[in-house]
Amino acid sequence: MRYGIFSDVHGNLEAFQAVLEAYKKENIDTYLCAGDSVGYGANPGECLHLIRELKAQSVAGNHDWAVAGKLDCHYFNRAAQEAVFWTQHQISPEDRNFLSNLDLVYSHDDLILVHGTLYEPACFHYLVEREQADRIFHLMDRNICFIGHTHVPLVLVQDGEGRNILPDSKPSASGGRSKIELDSRPRYIVNVGSVGQPRDGNPSAAYGIYDSDARTFEIHRIAYDIETAQRKILEAGLPEFLAYRLRMGQ
Ligand SMILES: [Fe+2]
Repeated sequence: MRYGIFSDVHGNLEAFQAVLEAYKKENIDTYLCAGDSVGYGANPGECLHLIRELKAQSVAGNHDWAVAGKLDCHYFNRAAQEAVFWTQHQISPEDRNFLSNLDLVYSHDDLILVHGTLYEPACFHYLVEREQADRIFHLMDRNICFIGHTHVPLVLVQDGEGRNILPDSKPSASGGRSKIELDSRPRYIVNVGSVGQPRDGNPSAAYGIYDSDARTFEIHRIAYDIETAQRKILEAGLPEFLAYRLRMGQ
């Protein structure tokens, strides 16, 4: 089975269309979305439409729940809050219903999908410390846990001695792809990065491909029409910073 796994589209239609075009050449059987389909970008409704068209299995991100009115966004920064309020006025009742009904965790075959961390998934923690990875590994009843939320691609593996190590999995700054072979024994946490607002210094959209037969995972990067995405953000009256950061990949 070949899974197309992506996260954090954040209403960036230009980035999402580029990713979907690239996926067409990859013989994907099933699509998975690790959350945050809306917020920040100027086309939340269009992105949700495409996700439903793909029949992508999605889990809830903090922006999804904030827009649906299920999460208090007082702790969001000002630009993120403004984007939440703006998005609430853009989307249809059907979109709002879709966001509201997203589950926090999805498990299937050998994988788990969650936006932030497997423990306290409704708190949307950012996975930044080794101890957090240990807590996730401890809770995993499947081989691989796919996440998003930080907008930074990452692969963590729990080896035989229980250590977390980081394989060389970072794609080059110019884009391209990075492939790792997955062992069936240890557990993995894989952050698939962000389609619509990468924050690892590389502005290209990130998306993942997991081949459960070949036991490989790839993170791809693809350039997209950033200028149009920026222009739409500015024309919508969203905070300028949200347009600026797309070019920076931050
Ligand atoms: Fe996000």
